[in-house]
Amino acid sequence: MPSQLEWLTQYLGRQHVEHVYESGRANAMSTQWLAHYGYRVTSYETNPVVDVDAKLLEQYGATVSLIHSDGMLMVQRVQNSFACGERIAVLLDGPKGSRALMLAKRLQPFVALVAIHDMDVKQPSRKRCDNMGAVYSQDFDESPEGMELNAGWWEGTYSSPLEYSRVCTMALIRGEQWR
Ligand SMILES: C[S@@+](CC[C@H](N)C(=O)[O-])C[C@H]1O[C@@H](n2cnc3c(N)ncnc32)[C@H](O)[C@@H]1O
Repeated sequence: MPSQLEWLTQYLGRQHVEHVYESGRANAMSTQWLAHYGYRVTSYETNPVVDVDAKLLEQYGATVSLIHSDGMLMVQRVQNSFACGERIAVLLDGPKGSRALMLAKRLQPFVALVAIHDMDVKQPSRKRCDNMGAVYSQDFDESPEGMELNAGWWEGTYSSPLEYSRVCTMALIRGEQWR
């Protein structure tokens, strides 16, 4: 949702991130948001939407790399970008839960931060996420600024943006490159 992407973008700016690796692109709201704000985006998706990907490539060209593959396989590429001196962040929106956390742990040495979507209080992995020092989007989502950003946005499965924010909370975990 817009407030979560804005919340994440503020951290990306403070951390001087240049390149965002994403897993779980689907209809590409996140990919488009990040590319629009000038980030290089390398995006993994196991089930890409052909039309959506074609539009992204038309609009953003070489700024976005769209990979038809399991995001669990991103570690080597992230490591190579790190070795080239890039400031990296990762956004995981598939895989979810414990698989996302497992991937986050493997990526931590090479990145400034890892954001994980859908890490709500009832998610079985939430406690482990807390133990990794995570912060969560919910306060920002429910602030006047967040609510204003979400005003024109609607995710049909949920009764309101506030419910979405509680059920689909975004977590942010520091990587070892955090400063
Ligand atoms: C909620 S959608 C992503 C929404 C997208 N981030 C956006 O902002 O519009 C989740 C997507 O993750 C993909 N997915 C699930 N597991 C994955 C994996 N291990 N690697 C890559 N993509 C995965 C699914 O195919 C699905 O399209």
